[in-house]
Amino acid sequence: MDFYANNKELHSASSVKKMLEDTQLVWVRDAAEGYIQGRITEIGAKEFEVTPTDRKYPKRTCHYDDIHSSCDGPQDHDDNCELMLLNEATFLDNLKTRYYKDKIYTYVANILIAVNPYREIKELYAPDTIKKYNGRSLGELPPHVFAIADKAIRDMRVYKLSQSIIVSGESGAGKTESTKYLLKYLCYSHDSAGPIETKILDANPVLEAFGNAKTTRNNNSSRFGKFIEVHYDAKCQVVGGYISHYLLEKSRICTQSAEERNYHVFYMLLAGAPQQLRDKLSLGKPDDYRYLSGCTQYFANAKTEQLIPGSQKSKNHQQKGPLKDPIIDDYQHFQNLDKALGRLGLSDSEKLGIYSLVAAVLHLGNIAFEEIPDDVRGGCQVSEASEQSLTITSGLLGVDQTELRTALVSRVMQSKGGGFKGTVIMVPLKIYEASNARDALAKAIYSRLFDRIVGLINQSIPFQASNFYIGVLDIAGFEYFTVNSFEQFCINYCNEKLQKFFNDNILKNEQELYKREGLNVPEITFTDNQDIIELIEAKSNGIFTLLDEESKLPKPSPSHFTAEVHKSWANHYRLGLPRSSRLKAHRTLRDEEGFLVRHFAGAVCYNTEQFIEKNNDALHASLEGLVQECDNPLLQTLFPSGSSTSVRGKLNFISVGSKFKTQLGELMEKLEQNGTNFIRCIKPNSKMIDRQFEGSLALAQLKCSGTISVLELMEHGYPSRVLFADLYSMYKSVLPPELVSLPARTFCEAMFQSLNLSAKDFKFGITKVFFRPGKFVEFDRIMRSDPENMLAIVAKVKKWLIRSRWVKSALGALCVIKLKNRIIYRNKCVLVAQRIARGYLARKQHRPRYQGLAKINKIRINTVKTIEIASGLKMGRDEIVSGVNDIYRQIDEAIKKIKLNPRITQREIDSMYTVVMANMNKLTVDLNTKLKEQQQAEEQERLRKIQEALEAERAAKEAEELRLREEAENKRLKAEMETRRKAAEAQRLRQEEEDRRAALALQEQLEKEAKDDAKYRQQLEQERRDHELALRLANESNGQVEDSPPVIRNGVNDASPMGSNKLISFSQVVSNIASRYLNKSENVRAQQQALGKQKYDLSKWKYSELRDAINTSCDIELLEACRQEFHRRLKVYHAWKAKNRKRTTMDENERAPRSVMEAAFKQPPLVQPIQEIVTAQHRYFRIPFMRANAPDNTKRGLWYAHFDGQWIARQMELHADKPPILLVAGTDDMQMCELSLEETGLTRKRGAEILEHEFNREWERNGGKAYKNLGARPNGPAAGIQKQQS
Ligand SMILES: Nc1ncnc2c1ncn2[C@@H]1O[C@H](COP(=O)(O)OP(=O)(O)O)[C@@H](O)[C@H]1O
Ligand SMILES: [Mg+2]
Repeated sequence: MDFYANNKELHSASSVKKMLEDTQLVWVRDAAEGYIQGRITEIGAKEFEVTPTDRKYPKRTCHYDDIHSSCDGPQDHDDNCELMLLNEATFLDNLKTRYYKDKIYTYVANILIAVNPYREIKELYAPDTIKKYNGRSLGELPPHVFAIADKAIRDMRVYKLSQSIIVSGESGAGKTESTKYLLKYLCYSHDSAGPIETKILDANPVLEAFGNAKTTRNNNSSRFGKFIEVHYDAKCQVVGGYISHYLLEKSRICTQSAEERNYHVFYMLLAGAPQQLRDKLSLGKPDDYRYLSGCTQYFANAKTEQLIPGSQKSKNHQQKGPLKDPIIDDYQHFQNLDKALGRLGLSDSEKLGIYSLVAAVLHLGNIAFEEIPDDVRGGCQVSEASEQSLTITSGLLGVDQTELRTALVSRVMQSKGGGFKGTVIMVPLKIYEASNARDALAKAIYSRLFDRIVGLINQSIPFQASNFYIGVLDIAGFEYFTVNSFEQFCINYCNEKLQKFFNDNILKNEQELYKREGLNVPEITFTDNQDIIELIEAKSNGIFTLLDEESKLPKPSPSHFTAEVHKSWANHYRLGLPRSSRLKAHRTLRDEEGFLVRHFAGAVCYNTEQFIEKNNDALHASLEGLVQECDNPLLQTLFPSGSSTSVRGKLNFISVGSKFKTQLGELMEKLEQNGTNFIRCIKPNSKMIDRQFEGSLALAQLKCSGTISVLELMEHGYPSRVLFADLYSMYKSVLPPELVSLPARTFCEAMFQSLNLSAKDFKFGITKVFFRPGKFVEFDRIMRSDPENMLAIVAKVKKWLIRSRWVKSALGALCVIKLKNRIIYRNKCVLVAQRIARGYLARKQHRPRYQGLAKINKIRINTVKTIEIASGLKMGRDEIVSGVNDIYRQIDEAIKKIKLNPRITQREIDSMYTVVMANMNKLTVDLNTKLKEQQQAEEQERLRKIQEALEAERAAKEAEELRLREEAENKRLKAEMETRRKAAEAQRLRQEEEDRRAALALQEQLEKEAKDDAKYRQQLEQERRDHELALRLANESNGQVEDSPPVIRNGVNDASPMGSNKLISFSQVVSNIASRYLNKSENVRAQQQALGKQKYDLSKWKYSELRDAINTSCDIELLEACRQEFHRRLKVYHAWKAKNRKRTTMDENERAPRSVMEAAFKQPPLVQPIQEIVTAQHRYFRIPFMRANAPDNTKRGLWYAHFDGQWIARQMELHADKPPILLVAGTDDMQMCELSLEETGLTRKRGAEILEHEFNREWERNGGKAYKNLGARPNGPAAGIQKQQS
């Protein structure tokens, strides 16, 4: 009873709880912060319960994939690969900590992460900083865009290969700013910028004036993509540049939402143009123009606000004051633009031409139309009120006012058949058609003006001969709004392509390289987005193709196009109906009004209403003719005659989409040929303010950009690598002659070994040497240090070379000696084997012979007695003697026979013996008779004695015979046993083979399930991203994300695309997907159920409850189930911990020798039979183990385990250098082996099992208390077992 109380205290639930509370800090997922810190307080069936350390957050239960280990203090590392714990939570923490310290740049291997600071950081981009980064390896100085630019220059020089720098990120993440700094570095890196460099830099303000606008996400949002190439000659001097641009957003020219503005240039002109120019262009204030209907405020600072006259400000501006942004100022920027255009080589009149067209667009927008009263043809006319605008516009465009009027309100049509060929008919337009035509003209003028401006810039930075270039790509990131149209579709398509490029370039190629070079780096998985790209660009039925085909139909219609899209991709996971969107606003769209694409970054719902129009940017013929024939020289160059595409019908129609597809194709080709560098820009908050870091927002961006996957890869990866030969030639010039003569590979080996670089930091591939993050820099620094240090290095290398050669030869000699010893040893063994075999054979053959000889010789001894007796005879002695001689002869003969014939059989020997014996007996009888006769009575006694002796002899003989018979019998039994054993062995082998096959099948099935499960998790992850995206959009637009069931097709892959109106909730969808995958594991489940595993549902049980039940339950089946569940959870926990362990403490936390753990992992996942419950027994094991990184003399140790049934009860480790570790189940579960006996494979290990007393002796010797099984209690589980057994 005493013991009972004692035990109860030890094993109580609270102690388990306490044990867990001591565990390390972890990061756990949080919807707002991304991750927060906490501690694991409960191990559930599938999830852990985590209590956040900050009490303001509630407790939560999470799947263990959402929990990561945490270091104790905050992190601050330049390169995220240097983090002690490489997981996304620590990564995020590192970014956040650094962000608040104004360290906005961080690396993940060679990728630069830039967090937008939304404020100026002192000296960050100063000329001195540029100088500092010049020629320095990545990682030598703190991370910076300049470091990436410098790496690009150096790579270009070293590898003789053009480079691209891909800057990506969401709108407002800082791409354009980063691009500017990159260009600044590329142009400034050689002391100062020359005239060409200045021109390249000048391009930016001009491009931004015409191509940037204020949006809700970025005050200076670039509404076009650009790829700026800086070209270099052989000496790496800048010789020129070239800008390609993509997809200027045209819809903005005519309309903007309330918070957004048109392109900056319009406001710059209105705010900053001198009065004389304003008069010429008849300019007013922003709210005078319909094309500036969005936000009408200027960007201005306190000073420039004063400089703009009130008459030029809109009503709104006057009420609310100016918009503020540190880098935008409409007034000031007009002055800058004017100067920059001048520097690009434009004369004043050319500049005026450009301004005129900009102003013309504004005035054109003010032309309105009204119905012609009583017109039968339904036509319209320019409204009375906008006559003045018409006049100004035609003046500015240099076209005839009447012609402009006609062209706006009517359309030219060529007569078909019948009439005179070439007859032109004027078709009057309805009001909305005329308005559309006007807008189309405005868009055409502006977008061609933009093309022209880019052309002008390119003209100003020409190059004759360029050897290489560095291209910087700044293109809009992934976009999603409440209403998404063709523009978003194109830009998101582009981002899919770039993501794919990133995946292929960084993730796929990197892993292939590791494989090729034999580096044994574990593989990581990433979501391949090829299926989305297919969906959009497939030749036969991609969305672009379907759109172009729709345009070629006689009567294109958005709903027909949308229906075609849904029909073509009915079963595609990536395409859905608008009603499957998370956002309420999207679900109001009908099936034929839009479609939803599940992009890598989240689901986006596209409204297809304007896809067809936006895909076709041709003007109608009369307008096209009008501008081609105008007097304005600039406008003329924008619309060269003969370029018309629209009249000649739809055959040679080049759509916006297909043009973009081609452009993008060309860009991708360039990127693929170049060396690549990535910059990932991150937006810290959606409010565009400084000093605020929204964790979940940043995390979502990191995940979407694939950066997390890179981190995962780099956990074991090697971001820097050099060919042996390259490395060698890199330092050849600084090497002394002793080292120059070495072969490249030996040189590298010698250097690394002798510089004492840790073996973990680099790896030798087949052709290259690979470095862990940041380690190449270390090497480089040593190599380039002063000559004195170099001398020391050379000395070290020499020493290493001699030593390694000596070690090699010594090792060689050792190997030879070992081989020799082995040969000798084997020889000896063979001799022993031969000797034993020969002996056995000889004995087997000759045993009857020598035994026979012995028997027969014994007769001879007996005859001596006979002769002795006979000597006492008075009569007939000779007779006896001759009889004896006869027997002697016979004996001699028999001996001779036996000796001469080695193959003589037992029977022959026996018969000879019998004959001699019979003769002997006869002789004895004869002698007896004679003796009788001679010594009647007194000799009687003696005779009897002889008789007795003979009798004994016979008995001995009989006994001998019996022994021989028994021997034979034993031999037979043994043989029988052997055959039985052999049969059993064969049966066992067959059984094993069968088991193996079954296990393999099960294994296959489990693998398949694991794959399905991974896919399912990926889909869940996608769902999560979709949800997060919807949440963000909802937050920004005050929209609603439904908690109520969103409308969705029943089952994502449901075959009926439109018809089905079965509506189910998101959670149902998830569980649908889940159940689809789970169904497949039914077989296994059935198998488990058959074995009684599922009898108890323990998934709801707490960890501590399981322990309590193990300690107190009398129901042995429940008890066993509890034990299994308890240890399963321990296994899950330890697996999680292993995955999350600190990199420096690899060998800690091993709960059983490595050999045991490994055996358990190698073993096929057999379903454990439950029968063990009844036959549960105690077994004891002892195995030696080695500690990998302990000093030699303390490496070895012994590991003892006591298993009670399938689970460990006691465990003991004996080390040479530290006190023994004794652990008991119930108290030390966390540190003990969590594997079942079967899994450990100990029972199959020869010599591992030991006897109870052996274990106990050792246990007690090391201070362990005598073991008292809980089952010893009368009401304990073992009592139950006993009952069952009895
Ligand atoms: N490195 C930086 N330092 C200071 N402010 C920055 C930096 N990068 C971006 N910003 C701020 O963020 C705004 C948006 O950046 P931008 O480069 O235009 O974004 P994107 O091109 O990605 O849409 C800029 O107008 C600027 O105010
Ligand atoms: Mg931009």
